[in-house]
Parts: sequence; C-alpha cells; structure tokens
Amino acid sequence: MDRTVSVFQLKMEDGATFFLLSSLLLFTSGASGDDNATCVRPILDANIELVSDQRHFSPGVAIALSCKQGYTPVSGPRRIVCTIDGMWTKTRYMCIPKRCPYPDPPSNGELHYEDTVYLSTINYTCNEGYTLDGSSTAVCQANGTWSTPAPECKAVSCGLAPIPQFGMIIYDKMVRGNQTYFGIGGTYRCLPPLALFGNPRAECTINGTWAETPECRVVTCPPPENIEKGYMSNEDRRDFDFRESVKYGCEGDYVLEGNMEIVCQQNGNWSEMPSCKAPCPVGIQGVKIQYRGEKMWIADLKTKAILHKEILSVYCKDTVRNCSYAVPVQCLDGGLRLPECFEEPSVIGYNSNSTSLHSELQQC
Ligand SMILES: *[C@@H]1O[C@H](CO)[C@@H](O)[C@H](O)[C@H]1NC(C)=O
Ligand SMILES: *[C@@H]1O[C@H](CO)[C@@H](O)[C@H](O)[C@H]1NC(C)=O
Ligand SMILES: *[C@@H]1O[C@H](CO)[C@@H](O)[C@H](O)[C@H]1NC(C)=O
Ligand SMILES: *[C@@H]1O[C@H](CO)[C@@H](O)[C@H](O)[C@H]1NC(C)=O
Ligand SMILES: *[C@@H]1O[C@H](CO)[C@@H](O)[C@H](O)[C@H]1NC(C)=O
Ligand SMILES: *[C@@H]1O[C@H](CO)[C@@H](O)[C@H](O)[C@H]1NC(C)=O
Ligand SMILES: *[C@@H]1O[C@H](CO)[C@@H](O)[C@H](O)[C@H]1NC(C)=O
Ligand SMILES: *[C@@H]1O[C@H](CO)[C@@H](O)[C@H](O)[C@H]1NC(C)=O
Repeated sequence: MDRTVSVFQLKMEDGATFFLLSSLLLFTSGASGDDNATCVRPILDANIELVSDQRHFSPGVAIALSCKQGYTPVSGPRRIVCTIDGMWTKTRYMCIPKRCPYPDPPSNGELHYEDTVYLSTINYTCNEGYTLDGSSTAVCQANGTWSTPAPECKAVSCGLAPIPQFGMIIYDKMVRGNQTYFGIGGTYRCLPPLALFGNPRAECTINGTWAETPECRVVTCPPPENIEKGYMSNEDRRDFDFRESVKYGCEGDYVLEGNMEIVCQQNGNWSEMPSCKAPCPVGIQGVKIQYRGEKMWIADLKTKAILHKEILSVYCKDTVRNCSYAVPVQCLDGGLRLPECFEEPSVIGYNSNSTSLHSELQQC
C-alpha cells in the first residue's frame, strides 16, 4: 500500500480580517497488486464543494471544484485530475466567505458584531430612552447582503406634562404639537402669590411618564413684629403673601445688623429679622483718643458716643520704656471695654500739662 499526503497552506490578508485557510488533499492509491491505480474521493477544505457522489475515480478523470454557498473562490485552477499513479493533481483553489458591507450604527443606538462575513450576526441595541423599531439582529447572507436593514431607535414619547392647578410649565425647548420625548425637561412655576410644593423640575423619563407633579398652594405669613429701637416700612396688621417683604430701619444712633428686608417664606415664616444695635457712650475725660484715623481730644467727640461696630483707640503708657501705644477698642451693642492698661488722668481737663498725658509721650 502506498499513501501520499499533500498539504499546502496559503496565507492571505483581507482588510482587517486575517484568514488562514488550508486546503488539504489526501490521496490514497486503491490498487492492490494490479497495474491500474484509482483515485479515492479527495478530502477537501470544508468550503469547497465537489459535485459528485463517487468514491473512486479512474486515472484521467477530471473533476470541477466549486465554492459552497456564501463563499467565493480566490485562486487556483478549478479542475483536478486523477493521475495514473492514483493521485490528484495539485491545486491552490480556495474559497473564502463572502463579506457583507460594514454596517452603520443607528443614531441613538449601538451595534455589536465580531465580523461581517457570511453567517456573521449583528446585534443592535438602542440607548436608554429609545426603543428599537425593526429587527434587533441581522445575519450576513450568502449573497453578501444583510438579512434585515438597520433598525431605528425612536425616542420614548411622554405626551405633554401635567400642569398643577394655578401653575404652569416652562419647557427647556420648544414643544410642537402635543408630543414630548425622552430627555425633554421643564420647570414648574406657580402663579403669584402661590408657592410651589414638590419638585419644580419636570422630566420626560425613560418610561414615557412624567415625574410627580408639584402643587401650588396659598402661603401667608402673619403680620411681622417691629424690632426694638426700629421701625418698619409697612405696619399693616394683615397677613402677608408668599414673597412679600417688609423693610426695617433703626432709630437715632442705632445700627441695623442683619438683612434690612425680611421676606415671607414658603413655610409661612418670615426670613430672619435684623436687629438694632446700641451706640457706646465714651465715658472718659481729659485724654486724647484716636478715632476715624484722627487723633483728637475726647471733648471734641461731639456725639459723646461711637456707633455699634466702630473702633476708637486710647493710649496706654509703657512705664519702663517711658513711651505710649494706642489700644483699639470696639463698640459692641452699647458695650465698650476699655483696656486695663488705660488710666484716666488725675488732672481733669484738656488744658492740663500735655506732657503728662500718655498720648503725648513718644510712641513705642
Ligand atoms: C487497467 O486499465 C486499462 C485501461 O483503462 C484496462 O483496460 C484494464 O482492464 C485495467 N486493469 C485492471 C486490472 O483493472
Ligand atoms: C448577539 O446576541 C446573542 C443573543 O443575545 C448573543 O448570543 C451573541 O453573542 C450576540 N452577538 C454579539 C456579537 O454581541
Ligand atoms: C440576497 O438573498 C436574500 C435571501 O435569499 C434575498 O432575499 C435577497 O433578495 C438577495 N439580495 C440580492 C441583492 O440578491
Ligand atoms: C395629539 O394631537 C392630535 C392632533 O391634534 C390628536 O389627534 C391626539 O389625540 C392628541 N394626543 C394626545 C395624547 O393628546
Ligand atoms: C420606570 O419603570 C420602572 C418599572 O416600572 C421603575 O422601576 C422605574 O423607577 C421607572 N423609572 C422612572 C425614571 O420613572
Ligand atoms: C417657623 O418659625 C417658628 C418660630 O421660629 C419655628 O418654631 C417653626 O419651626 C418655623 N416653621 C418652619 C416650618 O420652619
Ligand atoms: C508741665 O509739666 C512739667 C513736668 O511734669 C513741668 O515741668 C511744667 O512746669 C508743667 N507746666 C505747666 C504749665 O504746668
Ligand atoms: C519721658 O519722656 C518725655 C518726653 O517724651 C520726657 O519729657 C520725660 O522727661 C521722660 N521721663 C522720664 C522719666 O524719662
């Protein structure tokens, strides 16, 4: 018995895909003792078709090879011939799968595929908020076309947003007709003076529904109280509406601390009230002070007081070094704490010998 195996390989690159196909032809001489050998049915690459049912072939017989459905020939003679020694002639005949065109992803969707050759599958998906209209898969057919066209991804539709009584919605984008689509939003407003309760944002959700609708309700605040040492811009003894405001001022040398204006809030309470802070009397005599950047006799401070939050400086003496230094003190709601180092002069009056005043000593 005499066996011959002939194997050849061909490498080929096609686009992004790399094929390694091997055509294998296996020949066996079927003869036993006699002169005449016969060829047995050749073992061919899976993609090659042999149009014959015969198992044995006589020398001289030629057979035609062809590609199976979905495959395409690339090279080599189509015919092989059975030779006298029981072997088939060699061929580089090869079949590669047909390729379908590269598909485009649908807008607002994606596609997934591993290859685009015969029998490859594409899976289509749509992004969140979009529904697939068409077939979600396509198969590359034997004639190199996809079995179905690409589907469309259609935005989920919500209809118009529900509007609360005495309220309205302002869409972020123009809405035509009575349809809205996933991603569209809006802001709810209540007709003044009503207050909005709930989420002011409207959103067409992936489920095609609108998020919960807020409510518009009447809110009032009780008539506001006056503040100590202050007065109000509006003394009406009535309920005030949401967002109405009242202003405060302070009497005389009192200083307003906080917001001048209070606003009726959604919870029916007024915003935080301001207060009037008292000035600080300056109860010292016969000294010079520093006030608003000027050094002056205390007697020249006409108001005899400084306002809340204002600062004045008094002079203290460093006895060791025979010099003086200014110490700032701040008025806080009627309270002025003089520093411990400060001494009021024993001789009263600003005509006293100036060199005995700490303020007149050399500055430290
Ligand atoms: C060998 O082949 C020849 C020609 O085809 C034929 O005449 C002969 O009978 C064959 N011999 C055998 C043993 O098959
Ligand atoms: C396509 O979807 C099928 C079924 O879900 C899955 O088996 C296959 O792996 C998917 N193919 C690709 C390329 O994602
Ligand atoms: C390709 O094959 C499919 C399925 O056999 C057929 O429906 C389609 O019409 C063919 N397309 C072309 C362009 O031949
Ligand atoms: C939208 O408007 C069309 C035409 O005006 C009407 O036929 C349809 O019923 C409306 N749809 C809804 C949900 O209101
Ligand atoms: C959409 O519907 C699902 C199931 O009914 C629910 O779990 C999900 O919270 C909904 N999403 C939105 C944004 O409404
Ligand atoms: C309104 O103000 C009162 C008094 O300050 C307070 O007790 C109450 O909790 C406030 N109400 C709300 C809803 O904040
Ligand atoms: C002022 O004081 C100095 C030293 O303390 C003294 O010598 C001088 O006589 C005094 N002058 C007056 C006018 O009191
Ligand atoms: C302190 O300094 C003043 C001038 O700044 C001077 O007149 C006085 O004599 C000094 N006194 C002492 C004890 O040095």
